[in-house]
Amino acid sequence: MTESSKADSQANFKELINNIAGLIKTSQIHDPSNVAVAKTLSRFQTVANELMGSNGNLTLRLVGDFMFVNEERLRYSQDSTLNCDFMIQEMKKRDIGEITFLSPLSDRQVQLFVSAFIAASASPTPLETLSSSLAGSRISISRFKEPDEETPDSRKTARRSYFNAVSYTKGVMAKVKAGERINLRKAKRVVESLVDQVASEEHLLIGMTSIKNYDEYTYCHSVNVSILAIALGQRINLSRYTLEQLGIASLFHDIGKVEIPTEILNKPTSFNDQEWDIMRQHPLIGLKVILRLKKLDETTMKSAIVAFKHHKDYDGSGYPKTRTNLDHDLLSDIITIADRYDAMTASRVYARVPSSPDKALSMLLELAGTSVNPALIKVFVNMVGVYPQGSLVLMDTKELGLVFETHSDPDLLDRPRVVIVIDQNGRRIPLSKSFTVDLTEKDASGGFLRSIVRTIDPNMYGINLSEFLL
Ligand SMILES: [Fe+2]
Ligand SMILES: [Fe+2]
Repeated sequence: MTESSKADSQANFKELINNIAGLIKTSQIHDPSNVAVAKTLSRFQTVANELMGSNGNLTLRLVGDFMFVNEERLRYSQDSTLNCDFMIQEMKKRDIGEITFLSPLSDRQVQLFVSAFIAASASPTPLETLSSSLAGSRISISRFKEPDEETPDSRKTARRSYFNAVSYTKGVMAKVKAGERINLRKAKRVVESLVDQVASEEHLLIGMTSIKNYDEYTYCHSVNVSILAIALGQRINLSRYTLEQLGIASLFHDIGKVEIPTEILNKPTSFNDQEWDIMRQHPLIGLKVILRLKKLDETTMKSAIVAFKHHKDYDGSGYPKTRTNLDHDLLSDIITIADRYDAMTASRVYARVPSSPDKALSMLLELAGTSVNPALIKVFVNMVGVYPQGSLVLMDTKELGLVFETHSDPDLLDRPRVVIVIDQNGRRIPLSKSFTVDLTEKDASGGFLRSIVRTIDPNMYGINLSEFLL
């Protein structure tokens, strides 16, 4: 497909999605004779018939949270994102993974589909209800499946550990605020499960840290820092005992924020000098809060130190101001990196506009030796951002590729050159026909042709790396 025909089909896809979403929305409030309904219906029918593939089919398919039209991913753009999200939600609500329209598609067929689609939402088994309403029509549907790279169980467990940790943190902060004692035994259990999860499913857990819920920011942030710190600690072979200390200290690093007024914490615009002065008190407050815990053991002492030091730079600058430079300690050095990275990629505190993960990493790399521990940041960048040679990666085009060369420009760490080994339809490409693509390549509209979605275990596909890489 040429660049311009790709751009054309994207424009048609958007038109299709905007019209089908519009049709469902208007049909929910008006009857079929309504002018607005009839207009959207005829526009949808026209573009759907135009988009019928060579096999006489038009398919809308959900892959994870991406919408594909005839095997091509619909790219996000401002003028279709809302409608695309609407369709994804409505399909998921009804458990639908795929809708196929057969050519030619008449008005009546579309009408039948829309009314059955709307009616099905009230059914306890929407997929089955819709299927039977569509029996004998030119439209068929199939069930939604989670992407099969991870077993649903491991995803579920990862999600459960994550949200358990978030609700624990929320509870702890509320208790501290109310002047109640907190239960550290529970913190231990929460962190033990995070350590287990990071050990077995590091990428899933790191993936969870992209959750930056604005309302629950402080709680999610504490859990994100905990996961990133544990993962970094694991990469440098810390003992399980130390990983647990690291996890607990991370969960409590911002505990001092309980005494910062919520108006300041949740202020949507930049802080003034006075507000900054108040914000900068949270490390000292954190130290005091943790020292008030009844049971002072090694872990609570280390957590208190981390809470006090997590805004100090590697070279001793930062806050709170201290008369002499404090000694370095590994836990604080690790948590400082995890904390900054998570804060930079969320739209809070350090930056009102979040940086992309790769941008945040390259900014942190520039701070190596001044703000952050230079050895640890390299390990961290490798862990989060770089796809090392030989990684098998899934791209948003549904192709699988092997990373064989990374760009030295730190801004392009996530856009290596890859050999495509499995095509969009899941077929293996023989070695003799394999080809290389550069993920920095863009299309006519300036969007990247391919982007990495995540790494995948090559063993699952029986791929022999050396065969491709040597
Ligand atoms: Fe902080
Ligand atoms: Fe923080």
